[in-house]
Amino acid sequence: MAGLKFRDVGDVPLVEMKGITKRFSGVTANRDVSFSVEAGEVHALLGENGAGKSTLMNILYGLYRPDKGQIFVQGKAREFHSPKDAIAAGIGMVHQHFMLVQTHSVWENMILGMKETPFILPRKKIQDRIAEISEQYGMQIDPSAAVWQLSTGEQQRVALLRMLYRNAKVLILDEPTAVLTPQESEKLFGTIRRMTREGHGVVFISHKLKEVMSEAGRVTVLRGGLNAGTVAASKTREEALAEMMVGRKASLGLERKPMARGDSVLEAKEIHVLGDRGIKAVNGVSLCLKRYEIFGVAGVAGNGQRELCEALSGLRPLISGEISVNGARMDRESPRSFIDEGVHYIPSDRKGTGMASGMDIVNNSILKKYWSKPVAKGFFIDWGTSADYAEEIVESFGVSVSSLSTPVRNLSGGNLQKLLMGRELSGTPNAVIVMHPTWGLDVSATHYVRDQILARRESGSAILLISEDLDELMALSDRLAVMFKGEFMDVLDNPGTVPIKEIGIMMAGGHKRPRTAASKADREASR
Ligand SMILES: Nc1ncnc2c1ncn2[C@@H]1O[C@H](COP(=O)(O)OP(=O)(O)O)[C@@H](O)[C@H]1O
Ligand SMILES: [Mg+2]
Repeated sequence: MAGLKFRDVGDVPLVEMKGITKRFSGVTANRDVSFSVEAGEVHALLGENGAGKSTLMNILYGLYRPDKGQIFVQGKAREFHSPKDAIAAGIGMVHQHFMLVQTHSVWENMILGMKETPFILPRKKIQDRIAEISEQYGMQIDPSAAVWQLSTGEQQRVALLRMLYRNAKVLILDEPTAVLTPQESEKLFGTIRRMTREGHGVVFISHKLKEVMSEAGRVTVLRGGLNAGTVAASKTREEALAEMMVGRKASLGLERKPMARGDSVLEAKEIHVLGDRGIKAVNGVSLCLKRYEIFGVAGVAGNGQRELCEALSGLRPLISGEISVNGARMDRESPRSFIDEGVHYIPSDRKGTGMASGMDIVNNSILKKYWSKPVAKGFFIDWGTSADYAEEIVESFGVSVSSLSTPVRNLSGGNLQKLLMGRELSGTPNAVIVMHPTWGLDVSATHYVRDQILARRESGSAILLISEDLDELMALSDRLAVMFKGEFMDVLDNPGTVPIKEIGIMMAGGHKRPRTAASKADREASR
């Protein structure tokens, strides 16, 4: 056995945080928060963005010192000055962005930073130990593989293994499933169950209510840095948790009214597109976006989705294929012509492509309008009209700002996304291409953004929705394509009726589904 350093001390929690307060300049990230982890439990930590979850766990992992409060490990008060101290006390953390050395092998990553590392590495011994832990917790990994060759899910496994290798008894996982496919998440949950069976305590940070309900024993909700309550998952419901998170009744449901598919707005035929590194990113994709319809694209980020969006909005040239908007060929036209044709693109990279971060709200609101009336008057910009326009967006999309002259870089993620959505969705665009619209947004902002996308569908826009969030895609899409390595694995007509597992398999490049008569007919119709 791995020689877990923890004594059996009966009912004392593995760790206990009492009255933790942590301030950063201007914000109180944690306010008098108490939190504990028992042996054998998964304790979920839930909360909106900025609620203080990562801060609280970074404190437990020794990255930050609390301003107030105490940490007890098996009943004994401890002070951590660095993660080394925390690890020595049996506490390990896997961050959202795992801190691995990409050019090193898996086994070398295990021992990096360990002070007891001998000068000559006992490679065989380390690899045997990795094999043993992998076996024990059901994580397949090749110890000699280089980290950069591994998928995101595998890298996460390495980061977790690294903590187990160092005898962590408490494991903190900060939004581990955010980067995983459904299959990978299932595997991770399998590992987590084995860990708790072995007596580990697991802190599972997530904002996905479903996962929390199915995997956690207890759930603690943070709101605005405060502990809004700790409850047993078996004694609560998703709605109740959402309410604790946002502090009021939260509606989680979305209403997607049945709508008859309208005329075709944007069509792509067999398009091939290069990525930034000159490698083919989109490999013969055809699609047809129609009014009153949301066409979803599922897939793990990096499978050509961004390049597809950029091609469809005129930002990236085609190697071959055709794009037409409202029946007219557009594939040699400028991005501005696409905007003039009412094709709007909302990129996932809000600060880069989406907004000029140094400029204020007014300037950002008219960024795609300054050349046309009524914002432009001859060669000049009408600032009065521009400010009215910006104010309208801010009002109707509920962007919370103190002044329109605030540089957009000072907006929180949620507010920035609302401003961007407001700019791109105002009026009724012919087509909207929207990528990862709720990435990094919390429950209420997410709901708002999804609702706005549905509203645009109802008012007759054709919408292309790229997302990694299958729940989002299932809730919003009328049709759903699964993209893998630049291709559509399939286009599903009634995505709601397809088991999520099948979509997950396609996301990982697994078998294509047999063509159904209906989807074939649709393909014909879209020609
Ligand atoms: N290193 C830091 N410096 C300044 N402010 C920070 C820092 N880390 C977090 N914050 C702020 O503390 C609050 C809580 O953040 P965080 O713990 O990351 O929330 P969560 O993980 O729940 O999204 C936020 O307002 C955030 O901007
Ligand atoms: Mg966080």
